[in-house]
Amino acid sequence: MPQFAQRVGRAKPSAIMVIAEKAKQLKAAGRDIISFSIGVPNFLPGAHVYAAAREALSHDSGQYGSNRGADALLDAFLQHIEALGFSGYGRLNLSIGIGAKQVLYNLAEALLDEGDEICFAAPYWTTYRDIADIVGAKVNVLHCGLEQNYKLTPAQLDAALARKPRVFLFNNPSNPTGMVYTAEEIAALAEVLAKHPDTWIVTDDIYNAMVFDGIGYHNFGFARPELRERLIFVDSLSKTYGMPGWRVGFVAAPEAVAGAVTTLNSNHITSVPEVITAAAVAALTGPQDIPKASCAEFAGKRDIVLAALAAIPGVVCPRPQGAFYAFPDISVAFGKSHRGTAIANDLEFCAALLEAKGVACVPGSAFGEPRAMRISYTCPTAQLAPGLQRIEEFIAELD
Ligand SMILES: Cc1ncc(COP(=O)(O)O)c(C=O)c1O
Repeated sequence: MPQFAQRVGRAKPSAIMVIAEKAKQLKAAGRDIISFSIGVPNFLPGAHVYAAAREALSHDSGQYGSNRGADALLDAFLQHIEALGFSGYGRLNLSIGIGAKQVLYNLAEALLDEGDEICFAAPYWTTYRDIADIVGAKVNVLHCGLEQNYKLTPAQLDAALARKPRVFLFNNPSNPTGMVYTAEEIAALAEVLAKHPDTWIVTDDIYNAMVFDGIGYHNFGFARPELRERLIFVDSLSKTYGMPGWRVGFVAAPEAVAGAVTTLNSNHITSVPEVITAAAVAALTGPQDIPKASCAEFAGKRDIVLAALAAIPGVVCPRPQGAFYAFPDISVAFGKSHRGTAIANDLEFCAALLEAKGVACVPGSAFGEPRAMRISYTCPTAQLAPGLQRIEEFIAELD
């Protein structure tokens, strides 16, 4: 067989999908499985979104569309980011993607040559590492442990930026930890960013509609407007509107960056289909009651998860204040065994938990933090208590 490109050797299947697949197989084999593994919202978009898609279907041109995104969609993005706090942007600051994931991949291609450095905090969303590996970038992982609530500190950022990385990638609210940076924390990090002009700042803030406890959503560009000349904001309809399968993401950035993403789009994807475009415009400009209600629902589920985890001796979980994830430290279990199965690390913990109790969680090492595991609490509320109860039993049964 002829050879593959080296970058394929660097590409790994998503660790999250591996656990989700195993859970699916066990379920198909008749096991009673509760899945806390996959990070997709548990709600569908509103009726007005489906109505807009049907209407668009009835006069679909069937043609290619704009590489940047249709004007109506760009205007809807502008309205959306203005409501978040980004004013003064125009259509040329924007570009579309097939979900935020493809936007991030485009940005990596646009900003990083082989060997260039990108830095980001760990715990991180697995795909950051994978995309960096595929484009051959050097990754500087900034470890943010439990003792600092999994959050990046200004001193850590300062030291990382002194190396003049090409890109600093930031995620708020965080997948996998659910941590949200306060206005003060964002301002302190923005202060550091302002001192290091050689680095692009990419903020992947696709969970910005899911912030609890009145913290609000904050961005470096609000704290320090001058950062906007190298600030790249990534957003998506996937989580906010219950539309992960519709695949709509976008970027708001300096014109040159949005232009580069648009050029890459012209070679990668061409455009987003008309029907999807119409649905996305309806989601962004229509009633916002579904995102609001789901945020409130997730805050309630967060409380259930935290209360249950707090009752498990030795398990420590910083309080998540956004998204729909909790990231408890489970290292209390390492070195013990469950009914003869040794548990040396997070991978063995999650494998044994799934096998013994039918509960699927993602090992923390997938996110660069092997002392923890991710619980995604988007499952029906009725499954939360029994699933958490099984985790408690599993840990109580260790010896
Ligand atoms: C932090 C983060 N960024 C980006 C994405 C990708 O989202 P999309 O569905 O828009 O590709 C995800 C999806 O889980 C995510 O958690």
